[in-house]
Order: sequence, then structure tokens, then C-alpha cells
Amino acid sequence: MQWNAVGLVHEVLRRSVQPGACCIDATAGRGRDTALLCRLVGAQGRVLAFDIQPEAIAQTQALLEREGLAARAQLIWDSHANIARYAAPESVQSIVFNFGRLPGGDPHIMTQPESSLAAVEAGLQLLLTGGLMALALYYGGENGTAERDALLAYLSGLDSRRFTVLRCDWLNRTGDPPFPVFVRKEPL
Ligand SMILES: C[S@@+](CC[C@H](N)C(=O)[O-])C[C@H]1O[C@@H](n2cnc3c(N)ncnc32)[C@H](O)[C@@H]1O
Repeated sequence: MQWNAVGLVHEVLRRSVQPGACCIDATAGRGRDTALLCRLVGAQGRVLAFDIQPEAIAQTQALLEREGLAARAQLIWDSHANIARYAAPESVQSIVFNFGRLPGGDPHIMTQPESSLAAVEAGLQLLLTGGLMALALYYGGENGTAERDALLAYLSGLDSRRFTVLRCDWLNRTGDPPFPVFVRKEPL
């Protein structure tokens, strides 16, 4: 396992996603998270992957085709703020957010606090009981801190009887290393 935000998110997904599940990659980017989800859900599963950049959709499609996984995914050129238009409430086992910008892409296009918050809020309604939302939060530099702060404030206020929220911090790393947050939907 890689000891970074994405490595931890992938490790938890490997232990959580069941074959045959429906999962969502809310930020497809270059497709690495989508590809992992496609492998984990298997041939009977389904992955919806969102991105607002055609370049990211194309890169994800190319990766899935190279790895023979394209039949398991539906790539959606739309904002994750509209996630609820594409899946029914309580139907999704895992949702992944990898915030920030497309590596190697337009540096001015990045996830934004308002749409990220709308997507997380809507995504929690889509999760099955026992389902998982995994978020890799980027901040500092051109990302600023507004998105991180808005998401942490929202997640901190979730009813603890319905959601368990785990924030992982790096205590002795310098700079602004991205960190993972996990949300589990508990039985009512
Ligand atoms: C850090 S990258 C994601 C990395 C990706 N998960 C991977 O495995 O390569 C963030 C992506 O979020 C996308 N994005 C930004 N705003 C978005 C939005 N409102 N809805 C969906 N995707 C968005 C960007 O275009 C970018 O491709």
C-alpha cells in the first residue's frame, strides 16, 4: 500500500467493495480510481464515472479499454453536483472523490466548494446502508482551503447515528499533503 491519500483510499476500497456492486467515481480524471472500482465490482458490477472535462473522460475511456474494463463503466460528462440524476437513492455501495485538478490538464479547472458540497450531500443519499464514501482532500497552493474547509464543516455536522466520519491526518509531514476522509452510512 502507498502511504498517501490515494493509497489509503484504494486500500479501504479493496476491503469494502463487493463483486456485483454499483459504485461511483465522482472525479474520473485520468481514470485510475474508475479502473480500480471496475476491477473490484467485477463483470456483474457497474461503475458510473463523472468529469466535467472531455479530456478526462477520454483519458479514462482509454485506460479502461487498455485494461479490458470498459464494459463495466458508464462515463458521464457532467458535474458531480448532478449525481442524483444518474442513480437511485440507497443503491450505491461506494463513492470516491479525488478533489483538485486533472494532472497534466488545464491548471485553472479544479473542483469547487459549491459543487463539491452539493455532490457529497447528494452522494450520501445514494449510498446503501453500510456503504462507503471515500474522499481525498487537496488544499494549499492554488487549491486554497475553501473547499477543504467547507467539506470538513459539512461532514463534521453529520448525524453520528447515521454516518461515521473518519478523518486521517499526517502529523509529521510538511507542505500541504492531501489527506483522506471516509464516511460510512450506518443502519438507522
Ligand atoms: C484529481 S483529478 C481526479 C483523479 C482521478 N480520480 C484519477 O484517478 O486519475 C480531479 C478531477 O475532477 C474533475 N472535476 C472538477 N470539477 C468537477 C465537477 N464539478 N464534477 C466532476 N468532475 C469534476 C477535474 O476535471 C479532474 O479531472
